[in-house]
Formats: sequence, C-alpha cells, structure tokens
Amino acid sequence: MWDYLRYDDDGELWVNGLRVRDAARRYGTPLEIVDTTVVERRAAEWVALTQAVAGEAGYPGQLRYVYAAKANLASEITHAAYRSGWGAETSAIQDLEHLEWMVEHGLVSRDIRVVCNGFKLPAGCFGWPSTVSDATPAPGSAVDPVPAPDARTELLLPPGDDAPVRGMTYAEKIVALARAGWDITPVLDAGELDTFLDPTVPPMNVGVRLKFGPATSEAALDALVSRFGMSPAAVAETAGRIAASGHLTFTTLHAMVGSAEGIPIDAYVAAFALAGRIWADLRLAHPTLTELNTGGGMPPLGDAYDHRGFLAGLFRALAEASGAVGVPPPDVTFELGNLIAAESGFHVFKVLQRRVNHTPAPDGVSTWALIDGGLMAAIPDMLLIHKPFRILSVRHAHAPATRVRLGDLTCDSDGRYPPKAFADEPGIWLPDVPGDNYVVIQGVGAYQEILAGVRGAHHCGLLEAIELILERGADGVVRGRLMPRQTAADAARLLGYTAVAAHALARTRAPGLAAGG
Ligand SMILES: Cc1ncc(COP(=O)(O)O)c(C=O)c1O
Repeated sequence: MWDYLRYDDDGELWVNGLRVRDAARRYGTPLEIVDTTVVERRAAEWVALTQAVAGEAGYPGQLRYVYAAKANLASEITHAAYRSGWGAETSAIQDLEHLEWMVEHGLVSRDIRVVCNGFKLPAGCFGWPSTVSDATPAPGSAVDPVPAPDARTELLLPPGDDAPVRGMTYAEKIVALARAGWDITPVLDAGELDTFLDPTVPPMNVGVRLKFGPATSEAALDALVSRFGMSPAAVAETAGRIAASGHLTFTTLHAMVGSAEGIPIDAYVAAFALAGRIWADLRLAHPTLTELNTGGGMPPLGDAYDHRGFLAGLFRALAEASGAVGVPPPDVTFELGNLIAAESGFHVFKVLQRRVNHTPAPDGVSTWALIDGGLMAAIPDMLLIHKPFRILSVRHAHAPATRVRLGDLTCDSDGRYPPKAFADEPGIWLPDVPGDNYVVIQGVGAYQEILAGVRGAHHCGLLEAIELILERGADGVVRGRLMPRQTAADAARLLGYTAVAAHALARTRAPGLAAGG
C-alpha cells in the first residue's frame, strides 16, 4: 500500500497527491476519500502481472478481465475500471441499468464485454406480480392501502394502478441487450436455461456455472456445500441442450474457488487443476468451449499474498489438464472486485477524546480513542467475517505512540476496533501528541459501503461521511470532487418523517392530542 500512501518528513499522511489533514480540515470529518487512480493502477498492474506470468510460462490462451461491480457499484469506481480497459461482470439487472446509463452518456463504449452472473431465474419465479393481481384478498385482510394525499408517491404506485407491477427481469434484460447488439454473455445456473432457449432469443454466447470451491477431487466437489452452480454432470447436460439450441453457443465454464485468503496457494491451485480437468473433458465434447472464467477471490495487490506464485501455478495446472486430453488450454477470464476496488477507499475520522475506563491486564490496552463516526457501518466486515483493517494515524507518524482501542459514537458495544472477536489483537498505534489528530482506515473500497447501504439511516442516527472523490482527468491532472454530506433531514426522510407519514400517523393519534403538541 506504500505505493499510494506515504508519510512525509513531518509525519503527515498523504494519499497520492492529497495530504489527508488538509482534506479533513477543509471538508470536516467523518470523511471518506475515494481515490480512483488506485483503481486504475491496480487494473493496469493486474493485467501486466498476468500477462508477464503467462508469457514466462508460455501459456497460449488469451487473458480477459472483467470488473466484478458487486464489490463497489458506485459510478466513479465502475467507470475507473471500465476506462482501464476492463469489461463488466454483473450480478443483477441493476448493474445492466448502470451500464446502459454509461453508454447513453458516452462514458463507455457499447462494445464493452459484459459477463452476467447472478440469479437469472424465469420471470414466473419472482414474487413481484407482472400484472395487477386479481386474486381476492381474504375478508378483513389489510391489503388495501388507506388513501393519503400523496399515497401514490409514498407507495411507489404507478398512476392508475392499484399495486406496483414488475418491470423486466434480469434474464429478459440480458436478452434485450443481446438483441441490441451488446457483447453480453450470461453464465447460466440451475433452472436458468429455458428463458434463453426461446427461439426469439438472438444468437448468443453463453457460459455455465460449475458448482465449485476449494475441492481437489470430484468426490470433494460433490460434497461441497454451495448454493451456486451445477455438478459436472448437470453442466454437461446443460451444455448439450445449449449446443442443440441452434442459436446459443457454449463458450464458457465458470469455476470460482472463492476467497484465496486463508487457502494455501498449493491447495488453491489444486482446485483450479480440478476445474481445468472438468473444462478439458467438456471441451472434448464441445469445441466451442474456449474460456474458463475463474471468478474472483484474489486479495488486493497491497496485501501480503504471492499473486505471482498463484498465477504461475494456475497457468501450469490449466496447461497440464488440457495437454492430458489433447485440447488447447482455455482462455482465462479474471472477474475481480476486491483486487480492483478495495484499496481505493479510505475512512477518515477525528479522534475526539481519549478515555481510560478500566484497569488494564498486564500488557493490555487501557485507552479508548473515541472517533466521530460509526465503525459498524464503515467496516461491517470486521464483524461479519472478522476481517482486519489497517488503521493509520494521519499525523505525527514519527512520534512515540500508545496502543489504543477505537470506539465509535454509537451506543453499541460492538462499535469498536479491534472488535471483540479479535481477542489477541493488541489495539492500534496512536501517537502520544496533544492536539488534533485523525485516523485513516485503509482498504474500505470493496463491499463495505454496499453492505452497510449507501445513504442509509444508521445506528444511533449517525450520519454518513462526506465523500471526496479523486479522479485523473483526460489531461492527466488529478482533481477532487465532493459528494455532499448527508443531513439529519435526509436521514429523517428515509425513516418516514414525511408529510405523508404525518397524515397517516394522525389517524392513530390519541383523541385530545392536537397538532403541534
Ligand atoms: C461470481 C463472482 N465473481 C466475482 C466475484 C468477485 O470476487 P472478489 O471481489 O473477491 O474479486 C464474486 C464475489 O462474490 C462472485 O461471486
């Protein structure tokens, strides 16, 4: 991470060309910094690294790259990935709407490669009616909304209808974009093929998702617990139906081992060797199959992980598996979110108070550093998957420091870092210097915001940080762009403090209580 972060001689932290204290003072805290030049850098570095390792290994397959936008759906991040030459991996119709918006605004080319994972179940499966339901509610069932002056807006009712009806499904949207000439490849899971077999669907490349994970034998794969993907036999059967369709071409097998963290590289590579063998067997039956999509799971390049060692093993394993049955090795697609987005995000909090509240155990941490935000919403993965985050002082890096626990402004005992689950973690270093200081939580650009929700209403009513986005213009100059801070009125609206709610709640008012108290 020291390729985009540095401390200067005065012990001040910089994120590329931004001195963090300057931003904290000018815009206030809590502050979120999003540096899209980090996205561009990691996108280019991953391409360079994979091409170099493939070149050294003499790997003949093409390498392809799509950004897994589920990691961070924000336009500044997706656009940074796409303008770095990466295609798009989507999980839902929402991603496709974003891509259409970018094409409409001339921000990406219509030729962008789109790979669609995520559930593409047929329209009839969903619980959102496609027409206004004519089913008769049970007598007394409180299904009909009581009219209020603005009820149509509040309940999102389309004018003239009694209930919301659904628009297109994800699968229907994929077909529509294929019809419009997009380079779009759905990766099909169980029960998803039928929509695409419809004879009105245009010619399309399709992939099939193998149920996969850290398994190294077919027996282990069979026992693997996962709700995604199909068994090798079901993939083969689906591939046969695709080939027989006449308009669909089976090009891709999707096999994602999962997060590489915590899996030794040898075991991770061994799982891809199994994927390679399954791919090669399918390729014998289907010469149209040219690609193995390896999914995501790569740790950020700033993490202590042997990316090069993994890639060398991957290319060796795939070449061996293909060579064993005499087929050319697959083109390899990397579908990465975390590696692209994680390092682009930073939370900056001010240290408001230091508090000693207990007698420490020998060598224990006694000082709380209270910060001006909410940790559970900022880095939910510290609680969900016990993910550690790097936390840095914004000032006085060269001064003597003490171990502290960060505590946030919620009333929840989990609003702290290190969290309780990190029992052996000694706390984070904070310089012993009086006066203002701030901390930066590094590596928050993937999954954290989308797990906690964007512009939500949060624990104890804490408001969202103001956001400073750093972008390199076409002239090469990096400039900042500010997203406004959430206000108390914004959060109140989300929580139903609206005119419509006031009208509705008035119906429940105890007799005798007049408006205005
Ligand atoms: C199918 C698929 N592809 C790619 C990714 C991206 O993974 P990562 O962010 O670890 O790169 C995920 C993440 O869940 C996924 O489910």
